[in-house]
Amino acid sequence: MHIPGTFVAAGFTYVMMVAAYKMPHRRKFHISVMASALLFDLSLPFYLYSHRHWWHRLIEQQEIFSSLVWMHAGILLMMYGLYGAQIYTALKLTKGDPEARASHRSQGKVMLIVRLFVILTGMLLAS
Ligand code: HEM
Repeated sequence: MHIPGTFVAAGFTYVMMVAAYKMPHRRKFHISVMASALLFDLSLPFYLYSHRHWWHRLIEQQEIFSSLVWMHAGILLMMYGLYGAQIYTALKLTKGDPEARASHRSQGKVMLIVRLFVILTGMLLAS
């Protein structure tokens, strides 16, 4: 089976995210890994747009009607929302808000699940 390079790269950023999730007290590591994962997730759509035959696949092969495409897009948007929420609560917790810490932690768990699904559905679409 052919494994796309984008999947390998995304898998690597996921492993790094799990490590950073487990080490929040190493602040510099935590923040730099999370910020890099965000940059990766923001740039990947542009990379795929310019390197894939998206018109052919989505329109000519009518994959736009596939529920997997919509599922992938939906959880992708959810993931971007979660990044926003994580940055918001992170800013609040650095100011010493105890509730922000609890929200940041619970949203973090959801983020790990959602991001895993984004990567897995993306992998299914690529193959
Ligand atoms: C995107 C930018 C993010 C920033 C700037 C950020 C920043 C921070 C900061 C400053 C802390 C406190 C560390 C300390 O106590 O010294 C923290 C804790 C934590 N972060 Fe993040 N974070 C981000 C994203 C994430 C993501 C995506 C996850 C999950 C995948 C996550 C999970 C956690 C967890 C579990 C804690 C520990 C909370 C606790 O003390 O109970 N963070 N984060």
